[in-house]
Amino acid sequence: MTNIPYGKHNITEEDIQVVVNVLKSDFITQGPKIKEFEDSFAQYIGVKYAVAVANGTAALHLCALAMNINPGDKVITTPITFAASANCVRYCGGDVVFADIDPETYLIDINEVEKLLSSAPKGTYKGIIPVDFAGWSVNLEAYRDLADEYDLWIIEDACHAPGGYFKDSDGFKQNCGNCNYADLAIFSFHPVKHITCGEGGMVTTNNEELYKKLLMFRNHGITKDPEMMKKNHGSWYYEMQELGFNYRITDIQSALGVSQLKRADEGLKRRKEIAEIYNKSFEGKSYVKGQSGVMDGHAYHLYVVEFEKRDVLIQHLREKNIFAQVHYIPVHLMPYYRQFGWKNGDFPNAEKYYMHCLSLPMYPGLSEEEQTYVIKTIEDFYE
Ligand SMILES: Cc1ncc(COP(=O)(O)O)c(C=O)c1O
Repeated sequence: MTNIPYGKHNITEEDIQVVVNVLKSDFITQGPKIKEFEDSFAQYIGVKYAVAVANGTAALHLCALAMNINPGDKVITTPITFAASANCVRYCGGDVVFADIDPETYLIDINEVEKLLSSAPKGTYKGIIPVDFAGWSVNLEAYRDLADEYDLWIIEDACHAPGGYFKDSDGFKQNCGNCNYADLAIFSFHPVKHITCGEGGMVTTNNEELYKKLLMFRNHGITKDPEMMKKNHGSWYYEMQELGFNYRITDIQSALGVSQLKRADEGLKRRKEIAEIYNKSFEGKSYVKGQSGVMDGHAYHLYVVEFEKRDVLIQHLREKNIFAQVHYIPVHLMPYYRQFGWKNGDFPNAEKYYMHCLSLPMYPGLSEEEQTYVIKTIEDFYE
């Protein structure tokens, strides 16, 4: 059996052709493909505005800037995420405050968040960054209620969840990133994600003011919009009004994004089929425990489960060419975050989850034969 990774991009001849077409065109960056990608992504998610950027981390940083995080501002997020979800707060000098996960869903536990908020004077916390971990949407309606009560903003980290949704209290589907409850949401187009641009990211919002800020921060803080400029010397004129960055995406990447997005639903369907097969084969097995609860709308970026003897299993799988992965090492235990006083024992659910979790191969190109081999290898290990 050839190597089986935990995640993998899916590139077709059509994807290659659209990239080649851009390379042969007049614009390889700052051309028409960026807006096309933004518009088609906004339509896919069901949101008003989308701003394409260099990667998901840049998207998070832009959101932190747009929400005006300042040194000392406290922002809440989960320890079970990629470090970037927290780092964006630090880029602006803010303080990251973690809240433990729910041991059943592995998502940030709203009760823990509420405990933090209710035990401090109002105004202590500025915002919250919930993460749709593994592709399971956070119930943002519930977070919006909390946010309104405590005057917080919400940045949804939806990197794992394009195409995912939760059902609101009226039973309506709320797509991850649609910003009906969050102020801003972000996505990543790294190759292991649902769709890829090589590297790429997107911010979504329904707020025009935030949208304009994002456009400006993405491009050095520069605007060419005559309505926003203080002066106007002529057709060449622009103004740098904020300290922004070069977080632009290219037309080459955006063309790939547009092409990939056309197959997003197909890929999502395949991910759900793969999850269903794993679910069935692990049913009743005492050595495995998965994300449990209402699974409607799970986008299955990752298929995460907890295993007994995980460390021995992962080694065994590697010897059999199966490259399962651990998502994630709790962020509060990273040496960088320990300097702020976070330590072992702070978040028992996250730390226990980390001891057992494993992401099994999950990507549209995973063949039936490969998945059967993965399942059989795990069964042989335990039985
Ligand atoms: C939850 C989460 N947030 C943020 C990021 C950052 O995205 P990128 O790698 O595109 O910078 C990732 C990507 O790995 C992620 O998984």
